[in-house]
Amino acid sequence: MYKNRRGQFNSTVKLYAAFAKHRLIERRGAIPWKRDSRCTRFVREDIKRLRTSIQGGSVILGRKTYESICNVACDPIKNIWGTQVLVMSRNPKYLPLYRHRLARSVKSLDEALDQAVSQKICILGGASIYQQCLEREALVDEINLTVINRDYGAKGIKFPDFNESDFEKRRLLKLHSSNGTVFEFFSYNRKRGLR
Ligand SMILES: NC(=O)c1ccc[n+]([C@@H]2O[C@H](COP(=O)([O-])OP(=O)(O)OC[C@H]3O[C@@H](n4cnc5c(N)ncnc54)[C@H](OP(=O)(O)O)[C@@H]3O)[C@@H](O)[C@H]2O)c1
Repeated sequence: MYKNRRGQFNSTVKLYAAFAKHRLIERRGAIPWKRDSRCTRFVREDIKRLRTSIQGGSVILGRKTYESICNVACDPIKNIWGTQVLVMSRNPKYLPLYRHRLARSVKSLDEALDQAVSQKICILGGASIYQQCLEREALVDEINLTVINRDYGAKGIKFPDFNESDFEKRRLLKLHSSNGTVFEFFSYNRKRGLR
């Protein structure tokens, strides 16, 4: 939960990530399962769910994630109207000028949280942004994870550890493919009294 600095409103902070075995979110500059033809159907489902969830919210993401998703066909924030996009960069001259004309840059996590105009703040990564959000006591209300049972090796960028005991875990959906790939969608909601 984040109370806007001007005290106007409280926002719910939701985090979204997908990882394979070893909590791997990225390998050699890309999402590992994106190039895996066995996963195409699931990737579409995952992006569809993500777009629906973040619609109308304030999206916060790191500069590297922003640049990586702007270059792929399944860009989850492409033409997503009514959704604010805040790109974190320490470079004061950075301009996030890809296809999302409404994107703007912010120089810190505090600035991102304070510039959010929606009561739904959606954290889209990458690892460094997840880590910073999860380190802030009781900031993240909800963690939405897509877990893929494939092993693409342990080398690459990983989703950070977090204290699972602070959250109630629910499995929302499990999808199987004929070749044994399983995509599971979990939500972790911060336990009452821990907000
Ligand atoms: N599987 C998934 O669910 C998932 C989700 C998201 C991302 N990814 C992948 O993860 C990769 C990127 O992750 P990453 O951890 O390397 O990079 P990232 O978190 O996306 O971006 C890092 C950049 O964000 C900026 N930044 C970080 N902390 C900041 C702060 N406190 N204040 C201001 N700016 C800050 C810096 O930009 P400057 O260098 O400009 O200062 C930093 O270099 C991408 O390849 C993406 O595809 C995967």
